[in-house]
Amino acid sequence: MANDARKIANEKEVESNGPIYVTQPYLPPLEEFIPYLAKIWETKQLTNSGPYHRELEKRLCEFLGVEHIALFTNGTIALVTALQALRVTGEVITTPYSFVATAHSLLWNGIKPVFVDIDPDTLNLDPRRIEGAITPQTTAILPVHCYGRRCDVDAIQAIADIYNLKVIYDAAHAFGVRDPTRSLLSFGDLSVLSFHATKVFTTFEGGAIVCPDAKTKQRIDHLKNFGFVDEVTVVAPGINGKMSEWNAALGLLQLKYVDQAIARRKKIDAVYRQQLKDARGIRCLRYSDGASPNYAYFPILVESEYPLSRDDLYRELKNQNIHPRRYFYPLISDFPMYRGLPSAHRDNLPIASRIANQVLCLPMYPALREADLERIVTLVARRSRTKKK
Ligand SMILES: Cc1ncc(COP(=O)(O)O)c(C=O)c1O
Repeated sequence: MANDARKIANEKEVESNGPIYVTQPYLPPLEEFIPYLAKIWETKQLTNSGPYHRELEKRLCEFLGVEHIALFTNGTIALVTALQALRVTGEVITTPYSFVATAHSLLWNGIKPVFVDIDPDTLNLDPRRIEGAITPQTTAILPVHCYGRRCDVDAIQAIADIYNLKVIYDAAHAFGVRDPTRSLLSFGDLSVLSFHATKVFTTFEGGAIVCPDAKTKQRIDHLKNFGFVDEVTVVAPGINGKMSEWNAALGLLQLKYVDQAIARRKKIDAVYRQQLKDARGIRCLRYSDGASPNYAYFPILVESEYPLSRDDLYRELKNQNIHPRRYFYPLISDFPMYRGLPSAHRDNLPIASRIANQVLCLPMYPALREADLERIVTLVARRSRTKKK
């Protein structure tokens, strides 16, 4: 194994009999981070668009193949700011099948979420159901590229064009995902990334907005800095959403390793698919044709032919110290602040409701040991051959 690849696999750090979580952040070698810190200590520039911040924006544009990026302190503040930047109001159509921050960003802007059901194959917002949910108050669509799987961006844009709606993608899971010819992040009016510790590319906490033009980026840069344009001019009730130099420095170092980390994820994905392909009642989700995925998650659907319910399998794995996650259960629409909305009714969301009860995200991270991977697939596959209780 080449040196760098060994650093990625990081196998020694994980005890084979320790807990196996759904994810584990990839961290670069500490000694490589120290010089970055030394420079911060030397310059004393800790935040407010310092040199690392500016460099990371530039390098991310190159890496992701996009024109403009504004870095943020986390993905949630980036989502809240993206909605502000486009002056979205009224009602926004979104998916119930996501992390709760997607819909929370609407409530933080005083916007009413309107939940629309998902497609049973992609688990993303189903474009065929969007038109039926549009009202005179609708101003935007907020889809999620769930697990980094591409939304039907063309169908969504066609609807947005007809009804003059903005499209903001929650692309928190979609770092580095490419369509056949271009970055997935270049669709819609804006795309929002998260660099949280659980993500393919992490800066501990962090996020970004991918913007189509310099003018939009400038507005976003003002909004993330309290609305300041210069020392004495404030043009908007902005927030403090700035990424610090520390996080930006880590991001620069992470970029060196992210391709290798994704390559290792790809291998794990292939093992899961191969070993689970004959497991009765286990469905692995397909990637869309031509896309280059980032292998951020490995979701399986535990269907009725499997001898155990999803929750029984979840508990059985936990008893073995393997900790998958039921992303996304409960649905956002089932949380107390949303369930009173007419669109949150389960009859409106039959597919999302079913999938939320079937899904299990299996451990997926670059340092997942082969022996542990083997143990997980053996447990899941062996159970598929037992009798239903
Ligand atoms: C789909 C989705 N949207 C938004 C967020 C929020 O990002 P952050 O944790 O960086 O605030 C996350 C995850 O953390 C997410 O998974």
